[in-house]
This record gives sequence, C-alpha cells and structure tokens, in this order.
Amino acid sequence: MGCQCVSSKNNHSVPQVEPNRSNSFFKNSFNEEKTFPKSHRNLRNSKINIKEKSLEKPNNNSKASTLTSFHKNDRLLTKSDKPIAINSQLVVSNNRENVFKQYKIIKKIGEGSYGVVWKVKHKKTNLIRAMKKIKKKNNKANDETTKDIINEIELLRKLDHPNIVKIFEFFNEPDGYYLITEFCSGGELFDEIKKKKYFPENIAANIMYQIFNAINYCHTFGKIIHRDLKPENILIVNHDEMTGFYRIKIIDFGTAKIYEQNKSENKIIGSSYYIAPEVLHKNYNEKCDIWSVGVILYILLCGRAPFTGHNHNEILSKIKIGNYDLKRKPFDTISIEAKDLIKKCLEMNVNKRISAKEALNHSWFSKNHTKKNFMNIPDYFLQKTIKNIINYKPKNELQELALTYLVHNLPDLYEIQLLNNVFNIFNNSPNSQGKLTKPEIKQALKKYLFKNNKNEHQIEKYSDEIFRHIDIDHNNYIEYEEFARAGIDKNIFRETNVLRFIFDFIDKDHSGEISIDELKEVFKIHSKNGELLLKKLIHSLDQDMNGQISFKEFTDVMIKIIE
Ligand SMILES: Nc1ncnc2c1ncn2[C@@H]1O[C@H](COP(=O)(O)OP(=O)(O)O)[C@@H](O)[C@H]1O
Ligand SMILES: [Mg+2]
Repeated sequence: MGCQCVSSKNNHSVPQVEPNRSNSFFKNSFNEEKTFPKSHRNLRNSKINIKEKSLEKPNNNSKASTLTSFHKNDRLLTKSDKPIAINSQLVVSNNRENVFKQYKIIKKIGEGSYGVVWKVKHKKTNLIRAMKKIKKKNNKANDETTKDIINEIELLRKLDHPNIVKIFEFFNEPDGYYLITEFCSGGELFDEIKKKKYFPENIAANIMYQIFNAINYCHTFGKIIHRDLKPENILIVNHDEMTGFYRIKIIDFGTAKIYEQNKSENKIIGSSYYIAPEVLHKNYNEKCDIWSVGVILYILLCGRAPFTGHNHNEILSKIKIGNYDLKRKPFDTISIEAKDLIKKCLEMNVNKRISAKEALNHSWFSKNHTKKNFMNIPDYFLQKTIKNIINYKPKNELQELALTYLVHNLPDLYEIQLLNNVFNIFNNSPNSQGKLTKPEIKQALKKYLFKNNKNEHQIEKYSDEIFRHIDIDHNNYIEYEEFARAGIDKNIFRETNVLRFIFDFIDKDHSGEISIDELKEVFKIHSKNGELLLKKLIHSLDQDMNGQISFKEFTDVMIKIIE
C-alpha cells in the first residue's frame, strides 16, 4: 500500500487537512440504473432494522477492562501502587464543552437513518473531522437510539485498526449526541463505483484485502459483527492516481454488536442488497458479514448487484434462493480465482462459508500480488521503524499519553500513514488477527534489522524487550496504535505546534497550566493511589514548584524522549 499513501509530505506539521476531491465531483457521473435497476434506485442506504427485541447492552469485557486491570510498569510505581494504563480509549473523551464552541460546520456530507453527518473544522487546530449527529428529540424510539449511539461509541473506542474509522470525541448535547470521527476525504466507495462502473481485478483485490483485514480484526479480536457492510459504509481515505490503489476505512458501527461464540443472533438488521439469507431466517453469526463482503466483491468486479428485483421483497426472495449470475459480462474475462472467492463468500451454508482469515490467504490475493503491493515501503523506513521500536522506552506516563494522543488524533500525518503500511507488512502471518504477535516481531527483526543473518539470541532479547515496553496491557499482542506510538520518529516532539496540540488536550480549562485535576480526568484516575502517582509525576516535572505543569515544563519532558 506504500505508493497509495498521500501526496503531501509535510512530515511533522499538524496538517490542515482539506480533501483533494469533494463528493459533488462524483455526482451524476454514473448510471446507477445498471448496478441497481431503475425501479429501486432509491434503495441506496436502504437499511432494514426489524427490532425483534430491544438492543442488548454492549458487553464490556474486552480491552476496556485494561483501565482497571493489573498492569506491571517499571516507571513510577511502588509495589502497592495502582497502575495507570495508557491506551487509545483514554484519549477519546466525553467532551464537556458545547460542540459548536469547538467545531465549525463546513458542509453536510451525509444523511442516514440515524441523523446527519457534517464535515467540520476543529476551530483551535483547523483539523478537519466528520461529525455525526444522532437526534434525541422528536424521536419515537428515543431509548433505542440512545442505546444505539452508546453502542457505536463504545465499539469504536475499542477498535484500533488502520482500516476502521477512528473516533476522537463525543458530545452529549440536549438535542442530540455528536460523534467526532476521522474525516475520509475521498467519499463513499459507493460513489466511486458509480464513477468507475467496475474495477480491474488488482484494484478490487486491493480494496477487498483491506475490508477482509478489518473484518478479520473485528471478528477474531473484537468478537464484533458489523451487520451493515455496504459500499456506503466503506469510505475512501485516499487514492493514488499512479497505481490506482485506494486506502479505505469501514464506518458506521451503529448496528454492530459484540457476539457470543456459538450463539446465534436473531434480529433482522442489514441493507437489502447485502443482507445474508440466514439473517432473514433470524439465525446467524458473524459470517453474515462475509456474505455482505461477497456482494461488495461481486459489484466491484462487474458493476451490478448479484441479487436484484423491483422491490425489497423481490430482492430478499432472490437472496433466500441464493442464485446469482457468474456468466454475465464481464465475468467471461474475470479470473477463476476471483469467481472462486465470490462463491466462497456467497455460500448459503454458513458453516462452509469462508472466514475473513481464510479469505486473506485466498489465492486471488496472491495472484494479484496484493500483499506485495501493500509492502511498497522503502527499506530505510522499515529499518528506522524497527530501531524506533527497539529504542522505545518512555520515561513517564505523560510521554506515553502524548504519543497515544498524537497517533490517535493525527492519522493524516504522512509518517503515521506509512506506519499503517509497516504494520500491515509485519502483520503478515497466515494466522494474522490484525495485531502483531511475537513471532511476527521476530520475523521483522530478522528480515529488516539483521538482514536474515542468524542472530537468534539477540532477536529473542530484542523481541522480549519490545513486548515489555510496548504491550502495556500484557495481552501478548501489539495492537496498531501501540505499534505506531513506538514506531513514530520522536523528533516530532521538536515541533511546537504538535506539542501545543497535545498540551491543549490535557489542559482542559485552557489556563496554560496542567493541574492535578486535569491529569486525573485525562488518566481516568479515581483511586488515592493513582492520585499519589500523579502527584509524584507532577513533582518530578514541576521546575517552578507551583504544583502544575506549564507548557515549557511539558516541552522539556517531551524532548527528553529523544535524548
Ligand atoms: N468519517 C466520515 N468521513 C466522511 N464521510 C462520512 C464519515 N462518516 C460518515 N460519512 C458520510 O455520511 C454517511 C452516513 O454516515 P453513517 O455513519 O453511515 O450513518 P448512518 O448510520 O446514518 O448510515 C456515510 O455513508 C458517508 O457518506
Ligand atoms: Mg451508514
């Protein structure tokens, strides 16, 4: 994915991100009729959501618990100390200020079943974001909506993957909930299909690989089913005109759910063209996402939906039968491998249907050199990243928090986009779960640092050290943002505007000093032990002894990570 990154290389400055293309660019350029028959062109975004029972509360048993679970840390802690665990969930805040004080609306970019989505600008930093409002008033299903939005926020907070949209903060206002997420400037994959009609196999493979990667992560790590995968919910981050490759992200976790293994779901949720037959029979599991992905793959390759009709019922009855045409044009020119993958996704028997993990190892991807295309990153950058990772030994929690906030909030930085790709290169074993394992780290050390020379002892030592410092929740995996904060070039802290950006996040009342209360809020500390730790932290950094951390003191501590 290296060459499909970004065109600007303004490395360390906080980007004033503007899209290179607006949605309106795509309007009216495609004959929607051909993909979806004339009579139901308006079925775009046609979400089916038959509530059989009220939504269950999201199950908070996964990574969220790291905030309270025991965490070994050799910095600042005595034996009796409670830990301060730093992960990306800390930097997604429930903002207490009014949303419009902080964000300016630029334009409306979407209107879905739940509310409106705008492109907005963060007034202070000029960063461009997407803002999704879910109305509270005049909504009959008020309680349900509240549950849905809380569900979406909770799930997005847990997900940490390069191909899943990031959430930055949310606001609970009297008239609605406002979700601030990363803005994907290339628009919906839906509009790109309208524009291009269909895609060459290598480009379709590049898109599909990223979708399967994200879904594999959701299914295996998060135990999350998306339930509404469709081209409207797949957004384009950027497009490399030279190679034709796209970088995509999955959005809209409003109908997603944490599922229990071996327990089937029974609520009919999805969108008509993409819904799996077993969902209509109210007995399904995470494999329903694979069906929807199969429909997307079919559309990408031929420009038409596999199951069509004049109305919902006609489409749904065709889905229940499961017949689709692999002989129509241009399938005569499409590879056997592509057709095989479609068949394996659109398999009626759920137990026989391919999983996301298996799909990633399908021969269609090797035939199209998809993995290799993702690996088009200069060797020097891979070596530099490995060295940064080995040297990553943050001296205190503030440095760690600053890096966490940085990699989470500036996904558009050129270097962070490169790190996305490096992560995918390292995360390359057949059993990949969307997070790095020890064998994968060892493999990367061997290949890019030791140039395949045998140095087992040193490799073992480095990989142990890397895990000790990076895998702070001790789950024996390195997740994407854990990796990115270790891998990023720490010289970024020489940029005053970057430091100011982070400082402003912690200095909630904008007094110009970070107080103990602000640290307690940011680190979500409620215990006496935790408070004691923060006091020690302030004491160690507070040069003028006023009990607070000024911007100068903050800068000094951040620069220390480079020394
Ligand atoms: N992060 C984003 N960047 C750019 N456009 C977005 C973003 N989030 C949503 N949109 C636009 O708004 C539409 C609706 O958003 P979505 O979250 O899917 O809401 P709904 O649940 O109503 O479908 C999307 O299909 C897309 O066109
Ligand atoms: Mg949507």
